[in-house]
Amino acid sequence: MRAYDIILKKRNGEVLEKEELEYMINGCVNGTIPDYQTAAFLMAVYFKHLTRQETYYLTEIMRYSGDTIDLSQISGITVDKHSTGGVGDKTTLVLGPMVAACGAKVAKLSGRGLGHTGGTIDKLESIPGFKTNIDMTRWIEQVNTIGFAIAGQTANLVPGDKKIYALRDVTATVDEPSLIASSIMSKKLAGGADAFVLDVKVGSGAFMPDVDSAKELAKIMVDIAKKAGKEAVAILTNMDEPLGNKIGNALEVIEAVDTLKGNGPDDFTNLCITLGKYMLKMALSMDLKEAEKRLEESISSGKAYEKFLEFVQAQNGDIDYVVNPTRMLTNDGVYEMKAEQDSYLCKINTQKVGIAANLLGAGRESKDDKIDYSVGFDFLKKPGDLLKKDDKIVKIYYNDEIRLEESISTLKKAIRCGKKENVEKNQLIFDIIG
Ligand code: URA
Repeated sequence: MRAYDIILKKRNGEVLEKEELEYMINGCVNGTIPDYQTAAFLMAVYFKHLTRQETYYLTEIMRYSGDTIDLSQISGITVDKHSTGGVGDKTTLVLGPMVAACGAKVAKLSGRGLGHTGGTIDKLESIPGFKTNIDMTRWIEQVNTIGFAIAGQTANLVPGDKKIYALRDVTATVDEPSLIASSIMSKKLAGGADAFVLDVKVGSGAFMPDVDSAKELAKIMVDIAKKAGKEAVAILTNMDEPLGNKIGNALEVIEAVDTLKGNGPDDFTNLCITLGKYMLKMALSMDLKEAEKRLEESISSGKAYEKFLEFVQAQNGDIDYVVNPTRMLTNDGVYEMKAEQDSYLCKINTQKVGIAANLLGAGRESKDDKIDYSVGFDFLKKPGDLLKKDDKIVKIYYNDEIRLEESISTLKKAIRCGKKENVEKNQLIFDIIG
């Protein structure tokens, strides 16, 4: 077999055999195929796509390219949830404790920030002492005792995706549905859970900008899960504005704690309840109405908040920072961006908000950068809100004046104000697949 012939075959729009995909991925991981040939292969896939069967083969090849996790020691059905990536998306921090407080087992593998999107592992690490590199035996034990554990990906979990993803990132081949689906599902399947809730983001802050392309991605992922003998439901959700009000690692933990105490923003709380009820349906065969009621009770009774404290303590986090979360905000200053005239907040370009947060230091510019956990944004207004001149739109938590200036300039381009008829506001949930 030769990489050249496989690239040519895909470039000509032909369907590849499993062995040919195996040859490309294994060669890419072990270095026998040079990056320029893998990059050419990815570009051929970008233009000619993969069939559902090819996508499934690619997923399985990447799934078994390194270690896989065996969750058979966890009693009951384990559920995992994955978001395709967004801005202000702190869902796991609330969803995990809520669902676990209702009796389900959540074994969650999470990632760090990627591009303009944030990552759960970074958010949790803003709690002093919190450990995400726990070994698998302890992880499984914690799911059995507390019902909820989060671990970061180990070095040898799905190395095939790690290598391919890094190449896609620099060859403009990220946003091909078959490549996104196989990347996400290879990691989910290697993580070993029985059922998955997939939060497929749609809009300016997501990889899929419109409902049709997001639906296509959702169908491919659900199809892969089915072929692998697992259950999955994909929920298409709005990422055309930041989720909730707060963006930035410590700020998002603070908003998650507020939400667990029943004081969260409506959009974020509703999304957690929607995703959570499908997790309960799959884990405990619970009727959706009953699941919704139980999730709401987990908040009003304080049980979800208590579960979060238990979870943070189990993973070495200092719970005093959860009890008094503003202790995490060790900023030099807070800048308030105000409305220049009477108007409506028409639209927030969410990708630009993510970039502006990274400019402040909330994300990494290169892979070894240190994150500044305490910086970020607190939006006091959302699209559709009426603004009076000098009303505060967003508070910017910063530590460095130069970074602040760069961030303000990007943020100004992200926020559009104007007449009421120009307001762009989307529904929270677009569709449910599977
Ligand atoms: N998240 C992933 O893990 N992979 C992708 O390709 C896109 C989002």
